[in-house]
Amino acid sequence: MKNILLGLLICLGQISFGQESFLTDHFPFPIGASLNPRLLAENESYEYRAKTEFNSVTAENHMKMMMVHPEANRFDFNKGDEIVKFAQATQKRIHGHTLVWHNQVPKWMTEFSGDAQAWENMLKNHIQEVAKHFKGQVTGWDVVNEAFLDDGTLRPSIWSKNIPDYIAKSFQWAHEADPNAILFYNDYGQDGKPKKMQAILNLVKELQARQIPIHGLGLQMHINIHSKNEELASVIHQSQATGLAIHFSELDIAVNPKNDSTFVYTESAQEAQKNKYEFIFQSYQSIPKKQQYGITFWNVGDKDSWLRGYFKRPKEYPLLFDESYRRKPLYSSLLNLSKNEK
Ligand code: G3I
Repeated sequence: MKNILLGLLICLGQISFGQESFLTDHFPFPIGASLNPRLLAENESYEYRAKTEFNSVTAENHMKMMMVHPEANRFDFNKGDEIVKFAQATQKRIHGHTLVWHNQVPKWMTEFSGDAQAWENMLKNHIQEVAKHFKGQVTGWDVVNEAFLDDGTLRPSIWSKNIPDYIAKSFQWAHEADPNAILFYNDYGQDGKPKKMQAILNLVKELQARQIPIHGLGLQMHINIHSKNEELASVIHQSQATGLAIHFSELDIAVNPKNDSTFVYTESAQEAQKNKYEFIFQSYQSIPKKQQYGITFWNVGDKDSWLRGYFKRPKEYPLLFDESYRRKPLYSSLLNLSKNEK
């Protein structure tokens, strides 16, 4: 009898042990990842994690100006549509990124010449064609990305140079094209940069006073294990106090921010990273639920991270999944945090 009971317990234990638990099952807000269509097509492990671990998707690159509007009279939505198709087939929300940025701008736009009206027409046409194309598919858009410098001044760009009031106009144009989309201003590195933070808050106030639709703030959260919790908390608190939707829109936590070539991803680095991830998730949990648009990781596995590719930092391990797309130990710590949720 004793042996039968023991056997039964072991068996039950195995059953529950074998069932995977997902962050998306336990947090009440969307958990997303930015995705790359090439990796989805070529790498089964990547595709499996993308499919099973997230319920929100951002195109890492393929809705940006350079990708969707390669020539003045030609839009190319193929790759963006692939991401939309994947997200729809797997019942995920789609977040649009990004309508206006100073980076990844096609050559024809940087070489564009014309008076202020011609520039306006060009940008308006871009925003509205893209927003209309993805209308009903994306829930929200990062309308303007990274418009301020650390000192709070407007970043010099072709947009600020040629289109007076381009930020407000961009929000207005996006809203006209897709009135149901949740419209975000998205930026990075506000922690420890009070002037940049203040410029963003001023922008929100100004747009609201002018009744220009802005509904959310994207805090990119490209941070590292040395980022200061007090500074991050202050940014989160000030952003949340606007009452707008808050999206941690590009989360990754670097462990080797100085790109030390001899760096080893030791247990203590992993522990520091786990603590920082816990802090970020706990802070997000403290945001009023109606403002929680979600947390999006900037890609899936460590080897897909822009920090390795774009930034060429081979010894960087900023994400939830390791080289073989296994969950890192920090994954279960985040699952534990979710216990008071849902
Ligand atoms: O499309 C070309 C391809 O034709 C070529 O073969 C290949 C060779 O390297 O490059 C491809 O372009 C790359 C592009 O990503 C698409 O994969 C660029 O080199 C590469 O520089 C570009 O990097 C992206 C970066 O934005 C550009 O600034 C990163 O993947 C992407 O993660 C990153 O994302 C940004 C967010 O949009 C805004 N916030 C910051 C974040 C990190 O920089």
